[in-house]
Amino acid sequence: MEFDEVVRKRKMIRQYGLHRPIPDYIVTKLIENAHRAPSAGHSQVQEFIIVKDPSIKSKLGEAALGQRQVYDASLLIIICSNTSRSVNRYGKRGKDFYSIIDGAFASMLVLLTSVNEGIGACFVGAFEDEKVSKILELPEYVKPIGIITLGYPAERPEKFERIGVSKLVYYEKYGYKL
Ligand SMILES: Cc1cc2nc3c(=O)[nH]c(=O)nc-3n(C[C@H](O)[C@H](O)[C@H](O)COP(=O)(O)O)c2cc1C
Repeated sequence: MEFDEVVRKRKMIRQYGLHRPIPDYIVTKLIENAHRAPSAGHSQVQEFIIVKDPSIKSKLGEAALGQRQVYDASLLIIICSNTSRSVNRYGKRGKDFYSIIDGAFASMLVLLTSVNEGIGACFVGAFEDEKVSKILELPEYVKPIGIITLGYPAERPEKFERIGVSKLVYYEKYGYKL
């Protein structure tokens, strides 16, 4: 698929064909592409937990405020940032800020790769951090950034209206228009 088409097609998919697993080669591709993400100072904090076990999915679903797609997904990729690799260098900024951006970049690569592979995906950020950390046995220095739910699409969601680009772009300083 052309890159522009991938970007334009990307849309969160929350309903999946329940009995169709995602082949391992696609899972590998999702992770390998996410692994290409940039990270602050090349600290490479991003780590990935692949979850297929229904009982773990169910616990994560509860931690994600009962969101259906977490229970229904064929698999989940939980994007984490291992702040132990950045905190010495960047301190609080590394822990509180860069870690989230690094995780977000990796997440976007998973979302775009999913489109290219014909897989539906949804980034879930609404969850209780402590619960997710406990379920996944994350050490204190590993922060969960997002739960990406994945499966073969069983819906074609309508595109949302977007605020026009011209309303969002300024020149040289905030609020300045051409
Ligand atoms: C930081 C962040 C957190 C999000 N959390 C959730 C979530 O918990 N559940 C969900 O269904 N979608 C979640 N989304 C997806 C957004 O709702 C979605 O991107 C937005 O409505 C635009 O739709 P589109 O991505 O399909 O264009 C999240 C997106 C972002 C960027």
